[in-house]
Amino acid sequence: MIKILIIGGGAMGSAFAIPCIENKNKVTITEPYSKTFIKNLSSKKKFHSALKINLPKKLIFKKYSNQLLKENFDLIVIALSLSGIDFIGKELKNLKVKTPILILTKGLKYEKKINKLFTISELFKKKYNRVNISALKGPCLAKELVRKKQTSVIVANKNINIAKWIGKKISTKYYLIEYSKDIIGVEICSAIKNIYSMIIGAGQNLNASSSLFQKSLNEMKYLIKYFKGKETTIESLAGVGDLYVSAAGGRNSKMGSYLGKGYKFNIAKKKFMKKDTVEGEQLVREIAPYIIKKIDKKKIPLMNSLFSAILKNKKLKIS
Ligand SMILES: NC(=O)c1ccc[n+]([C@@H]2O[C@H](COP(=O)([O-])OP(=O)(O)OC[C@H]3O[C@@H](n4cnc5c(N)ncnc54)[C@H](O)[C@@H]3O)[C@@H](O)[C@H]2O)c1
Repeated sequence: MIKILIIGGGAMGSAFAIPCIENKNKVTITEPYSKTFIKNLSSKKKFHSALKINLPKKLIFKKYSNQLLKENFDLIVIALSLSGIDFIGKELKNLKVKTPILILTKGLKYEKKINKLFTISELFKKKYNRVNISALKGPCLAKELVRKKQTSVIVANKNINIAKWIGKKISTKYYLIEYSKDIIGVEICSAIKNIYSMIIGAGQNLNASSSLFQKSLNEMKYLIKYFKGKETTIESLAGVGDLYVSAAGGRNSKMGSYLGKGYKFNIAKKKFMKKDTVEGEQLVREIAPYIIKKIDKKKIPLMNSLFSAILKNKKLKIS
């Protein structure tokens, strides 16, 4: 039994609590941002409005305060969306928290001042001086995990023993854990699949989408190598695994389908997906300033077409 603190009571943070509790760990969840999730988690029945399910009574909810981070936890899990990463990085740095960290958040961060693109684990190490960072990624719909549907994910850390220690504490019969030393490759894959699932979704029939799937894999391979991850990580749960689930359904591929039908991005967003967060769009806005400057367009033509569609609001042109 270990003491786990989950930061982020959204769909993924709350669903992740289920296998952790089943493994007899003492699990505390906190929510620093959303009033809705605070209300859900602090209510008697713990009904989660995004997951449409009552969470276990054993899940302890504590109001967020930075002092909570200093309590005696064995593992801190970060399940915030990308926009919350700098906030929590600063908090952990200022309080000099030394607890091992596991990151569920998918995405990359652009540091404008030094013109560098970081994975979240790199950002935590280099900007927030935290050590002992692991990443958990892979194809996982929170709505399925919370209902104990079989799910496989990958835990990555250069020190594989730490990844295995985490895996042992969280795996169950329905939550299966694989391991990787290639934390950079795993993080790159799980971030850029949000962009490529939009591109695959733009295919207007299965034949077209399959061809876009194959071309997307080639671009993803190129990008993994560029950022010094291992090319073979594309074959893992964080690569093709996560790309499949995102392309088969989800908000990125839905947006892609509108772009493929010829809608301009701003119109599609307003008309069909006004209230939805499209993670691929957020990632495009975050990484485009770096990618456009640094990477040869010809190496990643699909990604560049999507940049034009989102940033310049032009019709998506892919072949
Ligand atoms: N690792 C995995 O297996 C896996 C699986 C699915 C999703 N995810 C990732 O987990 C993350 C959360 O996804 P989700 O489905 O729970 O989303 P969600 O929208 O349900 O929850 C988002 C969480 O981030 C917080 N947040 C949002 N904006 C914030 C801000 N500006 N400052 C601080 N906190 C903020 C919200 O309050 C909430 O706790 C995403 O990055 C997603 O890609 C990971």
